[in-house]
Amino acid sequence: MRCNQDRTGRGPSSTRRTFLKASAAALAAASAPALVPSSVFGANPPSDRIHVAIIGCGNQSELDIPAFLGHEDVQVVAVCDVNTASDGYRTPKQFLGRKPGQELVNAFYAAKRPSGTFKGCDAYSDFRDVLARKDVDAVAIVVPDHWHGLITVMAAQAGKDIYCEKPLSLTIRQGQAMVKAVRRHKRILQTGSHYRSSPANRRGCELVRNGRIGRLQRIVALVAEQNALDPGPGWKPMPVPEGFDYERWLGPAPSAPYHKDRCLYRFRFNLDYSGGQTTNFGAHSIDVGQWAMGADDTGPIEFEDQGSEWPPKGGLFNTATTVRFRARYANGVELICKTEKPGFGTRLEGTEGWVEFGYKGLQTSPESLKTSQIGPNEIRLPVSNPRRKEDASKYYIPDHVRDFLDCVKSRHDPVEPVEAGHRTASICHLGNIAMLLKRKVRWDPVKEQFVGDDEAERMLERAMRPPWRLG
Ligand SMILES: NC(=O)c1ccc[n+]([C@@H]2O[C@H](COP(=O)([O-])OP(=O)(O)OC[C@H]3O[C@@H](n4cnc5c(N)ncnc54)[C@H](O)[C@@H]3O)[C@@H](O)[C@H]2O)c1
Repeated sequence: MRCNQDRTGRGPSSTRRTFLKASAAALAAASAPALVPSSVFGANPPSDRIHVAIIGCGNQSELDIPAFLGHEDVQVVAVCDVNTASDGYRTPKQFLGRKPGQELVNAFYAAKRPSGTFKGCDAYSDFRDVLARKDVDAVAIVVPDHWHGLITVMAAQAGKDIYCEKPLSLTIRQGQAMVKAVRRHKRILQTGSHYRSSPANRRGCELVRNGRIGRLQRIVALVAEQNALDPGPGWKPMPVPEGFDYERWLGPAPSAPYHKDRCLYRFRFNLDYSGGQTTNFGAHSIDVGQWAMGADDTGPIEFEDQGSEWPPKGGLFNTATTVRFRARYANGVELICKTEKPGFGTRLEGTEGWVEFGYKGLQTSPESLKTSQIGPNEIRLPVSNPRRKEDASKYYIPDHVRDFLDCVKSRHDPVEPVEAGHRTASICHLGNIAMLLKRKVRWDPVKEQFVGDDEAERMLERAMRPPWRLG
């Protein structure tokens, strides 16, 4: 899937950074003594940095913001959140929102520039104001899934490169629109399924791709138990906390009374905003299976419920509490996705052995596969941060971001381009549809439509609340 030449055809000469670099060089030649020496800024003066805006300063931003800040060639110039720093986003361990996000960024730069030369990062409540800024090169979209499609499409139209958190889409139709917009506007998009940047996963996938387990027969993808079941039927709405623009948080989703558990983190257990643990963990565990198969531009042809369980009607949450579905690819490979401890992991079973990756790293059978060398003429998968010297297994989010940044500069596709993120999310959505319908559905991965199934077809999209619409 990933290609080594510029598949966008867009030369780097048109980027803001290159323009600024050229302008700075011209200016330096004309008035060198007036310029601040670049040594003040290290190897990457501000003019040559990728200007990044973080959209969404919640739970995951606590990992994603540092993952961007840690790269010398990045300047985080803006953060954006519909939440200032409200009580709805306060837990014993966290206090989240655009203000804490801005403070995190400013404290980082202030520590690096004690002389006070640092210009503070700006904070916004409306992402459209961020997209309107000409100096923003790239955005990190770290908002709930019901916003991924809209913000990605609008960011692509505004000429921004995009790091979009997983699962890439809320629905298959939104995912298709994201692919179309990213390619039409020649943008770089990295999907935030960062386990592709884990060395153990890459090695496991290389072993599978190079036939070390024989012919692949089965992928077993685990998802975690749903870690929130309440509030159940009879729950009571809460007053919207001060400093939180709840209407904007809902955006394209149906109007609904506020409850704090609808928002912070737990949005993922309501189908209006996400797809439960199927999409939450499937975006990692199924994704690794897709990568191992080299199936980034396709997917299974059949999905079947295998005893999923759902919460009682009337509660705040309505996603599968026990995930259990089976899918089949055209080549006969079976995919089993199920809720099981430890909650994240992928096992790839072949005719001559298996590989498994999860929290414990890479496990293999036979054991000797762990040290099996990949020869020079065999398939290699991309290393997200070839410069990393230390144990890369600790750094897969920063390295996933590094891969994105390198691709922003080279205009190559990153390790998880938009199509790959879309196809992995599609499998999660199709699994959810089969589990909701409690029956088998047939899928055409080329046409991206169900085979003779109008009821399932209607579940490929969810209406957006006006005035929001895609495209
Ligand atoms: N890569 C991973 O392993 C990983 C882990 C956790 C979450 N995620 C993903 O990150 C995304 C965010 O999840 P989270 O756990 O941080 O959720 P969260 O609820 O903690 O944070 C989401 C933030 O987005 C803000 N927001 C909502 N709508 C917005 C809008 N229109 N404009 C600006 N800000 C808006 C919210 O106010 C909130 O602060 C999800 O897509 C989730 O699946 C990825």
